[in-house]
This record gives sequence, C-alpha cells and structure tokens, in this order.
Amino acid sequence: MQPRICVFGGINIDFFATSELMPRPGQTVVGDSFFQTGGGKGANQAFATARLGAWTHMIGAVGDDVFGERLINDLKDVGVDSSGIVRVPDIHTGVAMILLDGDKQNYIIQIPGANAQAGLTDIEQSLDILATCQVLMLQREVSQEISLKLAREAKNHGITVVWDPAPAPSSIDDVLLELLRLADVVTPNETEAEALTGIPVVDFASAEAAAAQIMKLGAQSVVVTMGGQGGLLLESDAEEVFIFNPLQVNTVDTVAAGDAFAAGLAVALAEGQTLRESVVFGRVSGGLAVTAEGAMISMPDRDQVEQRLSESQD
Ligand code: RIB
Repeated sequence: MQPRICVFGGINIDFFATSELMPRPGQTVVGDSFFQTGGGKGANQAFATARLGAWTHMIGAVGDDVFGERLINDLKDVGVDSSGIVRVPDIHTGVAMILLDGDKQNYIIQIPGANAQAGLTDIEQSLDILATCQVLMLQREVSQEISLKLAREAKNHGITVVWDPAPAPSSIDDVLLELLRLADVVTPNETEAEALTGIPVVDFASAEAAAAQIMKLGAQSVVVTMGGQGGLLLESDAEEVFIFNPLQVNTVDTVAAGDAFAAGLAVALAEGQTLRESVVFGRVSGGLAVTAEGAMISMPDRDQVEQRLSESQD
C-alpha cells in the first residue's frame, strides 16, 4: 500500500545568487550566477516525499501572484495533493533570498509573506485527510500554534509526527515544548540543536549531549544532522546512540539537504521501517540532495535512493 504523508509548512520562491566572495557591509560584489527554484521547508519536504513514492497532502499558503501559481503547479507536477494550499489575496508568496559562497556555504533570508496565513483558514478537509495518513511532517516556517493543533490531532489518531525545528528558534516557549513532547522524531541540525539546548554542536560528543538534552525537554527520539559530518540518532529505548557517516558525494549545494533527509525518514517510517532503517534511508535522500543545485529541484527520487542504497559503498 502506498504510504500517506501530510505536510504542514512553508512554501517559498527561492532566489539563488552564487558568488565566490560575499559582500561586506556597504560593498557590492559581482556574482557568478542567478537562478530561481521552488522552495520552503514544507514544500521541499512535500515535493521530496512525493518523489520518494508517498501519497502526499500539503497544507500551506501562497500569495495570489505568479509565484504562488507556479509553486502549486510544481508540487502538483510531482503528484502532491495541493488541495490544502490556499491562495491569499493582497500578500506576496513567501520568498527566500539565498546566497551561496565559494565554499558552498549558504546564507538565507526568508520573508514569510503568505506563509504567515498558513492553516488560519478552514482546514477541516485537511484534518480528515490527516486522519488517513501514517506520518505528519512539521517545521517552523509557519504558525507553531497550528502546528501544535495538527500534532495533537495526529497523536489522537496514532499518527507518527516528524518535527524539524527549522529555522532555529530564538527562544523556547510552551508551544515549542509541547511540540517536542508530541513529536515522535525531532530532526535538528547543529544550529537548531544548539538553539534548543545552548550546547554548541561541533562533533559527535557534543551532538549526543545536545540530543540527550532535547530528550530531557520531552522528545522521544532525536536525530541530529551534521552536514558533512553525518549525524546521530538517540532513541529513548536504545542501548546506544546510532552514528551515521555522511554519504560520499560531490557537494554542489547543501540547501534543502535537511528537508530531503526528513522526507526520506518520513517515507520510510510511513512504510513501516524501523527508526534506524528510516534514518539510513533519510541519510541517502539527504546526501543525494547536495549533489544538485536548488531546493525542490534537488530532491532525489525513489529510484536514485534505491540505487544508492543497493550500491552500499558508503
Ligand atoms: O530548507 C531550505 C529552505 O529554507 C529553502 O528552500 C528556503 O526557502 C528556506 O526556507
């Protein structure tokens, strides 16, 4: 049976500028290239879960502009059920300005626009659909109160909740703590793990300490993703931490790698794979996403992930 996933999250048009050098304050530099792709953490995850073989329903909001129309079409093109995405008049679609430097580091400014309205209209139909899914995916580019409402609804139906606390929170409030407690799996990267715990994550030891701290805050399982260092999984009932190495790939652009990881993890969980197996699947999905430019368009498909898993060279 095809796994079913519901995603509530941000939908952005991403404007990429690449430049060997980043400008200093007041300086203009001439960059190397410009391109635009669909993005947004929620939309990237929905796009990826669909490409990985899950029936996917997305809840979100775009503006009543050309970007909104294009993003909905991009999602529909890979089979995402976009009936939960509303078009909001008189506000622009969410935007992310993404700078990529010569070391492939990225700097992102995201302007929410219509994302601020996501989930605020009637979501009854989406709640009915959610009840038929195995996994709910959440992040932090849209209302956390609505995210919490959906997480509670998911738990009432025994649905697995994967919560990606991205972008990193600037403070910890009651809503965040309840989301942490309701989520079955929390997937911070180094920056987000530090924001949740105050522990700078620089290596496996500090990542494990941060994961343990996040569990003390109420999480059941924590995966800390560490980019080029791999990452680790800490489960409440496991004897030891599960460490995974990075996929050996040619890195082109790391934007949305965390979204591809979360998507792979969610699809495998929805298929009934164990958490460790799902982390392995997510690792390959996330690793392959860095081999291509852009956000949505860099998400790997099922065949690519299966092929890489079968090669098992790393
Ligand atoms: O996670 C990557 C995403 O973050 C980009 O697509 C951009 O839209 C920002 O929201």
